[in-house]
Amino acid sequence: MKDKIQQIKEDAVSKIEASKTIEDIENVRIAYLGKKSAFNEILKGLKDLSPEEKKEIGPLANQTKKELQHLIDDKKMALESVIDEKKEWIDVTAPGTKHAHGHLHPLSIVQRDIENIFNSMGFEIADGPDIESESYNFDAINMPDDHPGRDMQDTFWISREDGRKKGTGTVMRTQTSGVQVRYMEKHKPPFRIIVPGRVFRNEATDASHEHTFHQFEALVVGDDVSVANFLYIAETFFSEFFGQEIKARLRPSYFPFVEPGFEFDISCTNCGGKGCSTCSQTGWIEVGGAGMVHQNVFEAAGYEKDKYQGFAWGFGLERLAMMKYKINDIRLFHSGDVRFTRQF
Ligand code: PHE
Repeated sequence: MKDKIQQIKEDAVSKIEASKTIEDIENVRIAYLGKKSAFNEILKGLKDLSPEEKKEIGPLANQTKKELQHLIDDKKMALESVIDEKKEWIDVTAPGTKHAHGHLHPLSIVQRDIENIFNSMGFEIADGPDIESESYNFDAINMPDDHPGRDMQDTFWISREDGRKKGTGTVMRTQTSGVQVRYMEKHKPPFRIIVPGRVFRNEATDASHEHTFHQFEALVVGDDVSVANFLYIAETFFSEFFGQEIKARLRPSYFPFVEPGFEFDISCTNCGGKGCSTCSQTGWIEVGGAGMVHQNVFEAAGYEKDKYQGFAWGFGLERLAMMKYKINDIRLFHSGDVRFTRQF
């Protein structure tokens, strides 16, 4: 009987070792420890043995059974872990998951594009403060206190008591034009600059008006700068910016700091000037204000009167971005909605 148990054990151990799958090991368990196994027969037959034999065979059979059970469990675990390893196998050639990385806001993209184009035409970039003195924002550019031109721009006045109160001396700048004088006080002609900047207007908002937006001021001053120079620069800039040939046209208009003053239009970027719904069938789109710098502005900057000529030009950054990317609501830019900004 002892030999038989030993024999079964040896067989079982070699089969356990040879098992390669969970199924194999399960078959070994059924064959050697299952109800119908030879081993079970021995255990069942214990009752028929003599007391001495029982004493000897009983513990041996139980001990062997336990050992086999352990070996089977261990082997099963080992096989399972191999399978798990397989599941976690890393295929280094598989395409990875993309990391989300940051990107520029559409206004930053457009601002950089504009700056690059003007840089390539020899323009420098100048800067001024968002919170501006009343004198730079208005007085110095020929808009003194009683000038009706001030009414053209609804202003946020900075005051300790009431933000709407006029004449506090400090404003949220309504235009980048004030930087003209700031720059000219420190530099002598000839020069070409652009001034990108955030501006503020105390206005109700709608799809084409925001209280906070961005302007680009261009200022070119020298001995004989002319309107023709302005037209050439404008057409070159817009053609480059939109990647198609653009024509510009001027219409007489009024801004206190220029004389003569113009509003200027560019040929419709959608239909090329034939007439479509974007340009209300006119073939032209209004983009900004411009004109020859008023001699009073040169004087305010400390230049000798009638010595220099120059043109100034202002346009809205949001408006250009809207035309370029076909965006129909200016409020989207500052909405903070990532579904919008992620598209750029
Ligand atoms: N500053 C003017 C505005 O905000 C635009 C402008 C700039 C007009 C330069 C003429 C010359 O409306």
